[in-house]
Amino acid sequence: MSSVVVVGAQWGDEGKGKVTDYLAAQARTVVRYQGGSNAGHTVVVNGKTFKLHLVPSGAIHANKRCVIGNGVVIDPVTLVQELEGLKESGIDVPLHISERAHVILPYHRVLDQLEEQRRDPGSKIGTTGRGIGPCYVDKAARCGVRMLDLRTPEAFRARLAAVLPAKNALLKALYGHEGFTVDEIMAQCGPAAEKLAPYVTDTSLLVYNSIQAGEKVLFEGAQGTLLDLDHGTYPFVTSSSATAGGAATGSGVGPNFLNMVVGVVKAYTTRVGEGPFPSELQDAIGEKIRQNGAEFGTTTGRPRRCGWFDAVVVRYAARINGLQQLAIMKLDVLSGIPELKVCVGYRHQGAVCEHFPADINILDQCEPVYETMPGWDEDITGIRNYADLPANARAYLERIAALTGVPIALVSVGPGRDQTITIKELFG
Ligand code: IMP
Repeated sequence: MSSVVVVGAQWGDEGKGKVTDYLAAQARTVVRYQGGSNAGHTVVVNGKTFKLHLVPSGAIHANKRCVIGNGVVIDPVTLVQELEGLKESGIDVPLHISERAHVILPYHRVLDQLEEQRRDPGSKIGTTGRGIGPCYVDKAARCGVRMLDLRTPEAFRARLAAVLPAKNALLKALYGHEGFTVDEIMAQCGPAAEKLAPYVTDTSLLVYNSIQAGEKVLFEGAQGTLLDLDHGTYPFVTSSSATAGGAATGSGVGPNFLNMVVGVVKAYTTRVGEGPFPSELQDAIGEKIRQNGAEFGTTTGRPRRCGWFDAVVVRYAARINGLQQLAIMKLDVLSGIPELKVCVGYRHQGAVCEHFPADINILDQCEPVYETMPGWDEDITGIRNYADLPANARAYLERIAALTGVPIALVSVGPGRDQTITIKELFG
């Protein structure tokens, strides 16, 4: 397998950053293909924690070609801050940014926040407020600004002059906001644009050439399947294609070049923001998982909602993404919980449905059907071989594989790079 796609198979925050960092050791090129600085990928190396938002998680290894693909939306100021922060830690990222990637500008952030404020309490999405949705709206409406427009200050100004009047009219009419001038945006974003200009290139060609040269390429997804614009719990989703198909469209390579799709899941389930979550725990066990797993958002610091592992969700993700292997993260967080539950189906109007519904009103009415399994007490954070895990932990993992129909390749037992049990190598 010369290319591997890492995709979130729940509601995001599954630990894709750690898996990407782990697999990047073998890759030459690492490509981030969708989302923006709404993502927060945490990588812990030798006790040092790196929190990445836009830079691919392969960056913590030396000499990896790091690509931000056309499917990503880029806030230039945030990206420059992230690159400078990494530089201070001694990491000079060999970055390549797609000329086709769209740019998040100050009015996108403002619109994101104003739109969210305007929604009724029951229909708030709980966005990260980073301007993601409004930027993808402009992309689809064909009034976006792309990275290639930032190559010179003149081109940047010209594009802003073309798109700003309509944005300002919208801001004024809907929200009474005074809007932005070209000069204001140039003052805020011009210096960052100039710094990023040298990295802007045809990344589709670069990735294609890397594959043709026989190099290993890693595609890093952000968010997760249930936050995917098409396949997630709409409208409580993000605005990009967080499923494996997004790796092809978001990096400009044909789907036949994607050899292996690995789904990343936590050994339980979390969700940030609003929207249905059938296996959510609103009790002391949920709180214990939140505390033990440090389940607070990397980007916003919000406490994450926690619940039992939901096999209906992951079975659905397996189908939508064509998952060939699973990486199970944070198994250590479940140590010390006497009984574990796994959601195996949803009961709706007296019948058990095994498939994930598209209608969130139906999902809201679904009662989870649980199987109960015995837990384990041992500290498993030092275990590196599958056979050394407590028998109950192995039984739990084997049940997850059976219920989802996907074999398990990796098990994570702590945040460190080394705290990983490899069952199967993902790059061939
Ligand atoms: P947006 O992507 O900021 O528009 O937010 C839309 C929804 O996706 C909200 O519920 C966010 O909490 C959620 N979301 C966005 N990015 C992430 C992420 O990286 N992890 C988990 N949830 C996310």
